[in-house]
Amino acid sequence: MTQERPDGAPVDPAGRFATATSTQVAIVGAGPAGLMLSHLLHIAGVDSVAVDIRSRHQIETTHRAGILERDSVRLLVDSGASDRVLRDGDQHRGIYLRFGGVSHHIDFEALTGASVWLYPQTDVFKDLAEARDRDGGDVRFGVRDVRVEDVLHQPTVSYTDAEGARHVLSAGIVVGADGSHSICRALVADRQQFFREYPFAWFGILCEAPKSSPELIYTRSDLGFALISQRTDRLQRMYFQCDPAERPEEWSDARIWDALQSRLAGHDGFSLREGPIIERSVLPFRSYVQAPLRHGRLLLAGDAGHTVPPTGAKGLNLALADVAVLAEVLERAVKKGDTEALSTYSERALARVWKAQHFSYWMTTMLHQVPGAAAFDEQRHLGELSTLVASEAGKTYLAEGYTGWPDTTRHGATPGSRVSSHGDGSTAGREG
Ligand code: PHB
Repeated sequence: MTQERPDGAPVDPAGRFATATSTQVAIVGAGPAGLMLSHLLHIAGVDSVAVDIRSRHQIETTHRAGILERDSVRLLVDSGASDRVLRDGDQHRGIYLRFGGVSHHIDFEALTGASVWLYPQTDVFKDLAEARDRDGGDVRFGVRDVRVEDVLHQPTVSYTDAEGARHVLSAGIVVGADGSHSICRALVADRQQFFREYPFAWFGILCEAPKSSPELIYTRSDLGFALISQRTDRLQRMYFQCDPAERPEEWSDARIWDALQSRLAGHDGFSLREGPIIERSVLPFRSYVQAPLRHGRLLLAGDAGHTVPPTGAKGLNLALADVAVLAEVLERAVKKGDTEALSTYSERALARVWKAQHFSYWMTTMLHQVPGAAAFDEQRHLGELSTLVASEAGKTYLAEGYTGWPDTTRHGATPGSRVSSHGDGSTAGREG
């Protein structure tokens, strides 16, 4: 533990804290974004401390989305954070769009040469937490009363540990990777906030059943949206559109299966396989962006700066893309004293964020029923889907968005990556 700031001043002259430590980068939030950042900084030779109010177990067992873009997989593999994604993840070469009771395959590999991986966020977190353990990373879970102060000059992050002792970290830079309930985002002065609320939510379940489909099915029906996703050969994840005020505990298994079956019904022989439902929850649905993503020595990453509705599976991917840019910028700022680099982050990150906002909004509005919408709009969305699946250009647009846009702003993009896509759709390859 160091008791002094890098400039030689004492961290805690009044002696109010049990420990006073300094670090180059303090990261508020140790979910996938915070841990990936601390992992990338470690590789770059920059030290960091991450704190989170949640326990490791809590984060590990909170179910979130499950689709990784190609570049997210590359980042995990090439940075040495996870080999497991290639072993245990499932490479999906496309998705099905289902409407009018018929499924249409969108073949990402054939359209763009890219695919996605089904690998749950909980596994991404486990891999990253293990990587930080392996490398001796400083990650403090289960703290409370986190306070971030003086982000313009000499930032500090203070918190209370499980025993009730108060600690302070002084940091060259603070990163707020503390999710959609971020305490850091309000510290950005003169922030602009952009919102979109939706009049629906998702009812999500985890069930013990065999797979119903080799790849994900996104469905529009007269009764609303449904998504058939997966976890393992025996565990499946599914969602259907519901009222945001719906109470999951009031839904019996039979009622849930009825809601899903009626949305998936059709004439093409598709059959949805059922089993005991072991978890149910209602997921909020909103689009949110805060700009800028930087104020002085504070920078925001992931859900702390932006939230997308889950329809495009972009949330985790955006967070990982943020921290890839951020790690590069922080390395330049911390190791080369190039603080100007910090000022490029917000614009670079937000360029991708707005593409993803549009993509998620587009997928959402195309596939959901707005309660009370005009019959005209229902027919118009069916027209939109029919146009899309009949058009190479339309399908390619969807494939490019879903598999993720390449980052043209980052140094050292990934030509020599161990993750490659093959035109024949074979599994993730390793080069070298
Ligand atoms: C999931 O598997 O949980 C999942 C997949 C795709 C989405 C959203 C959630 O768009």
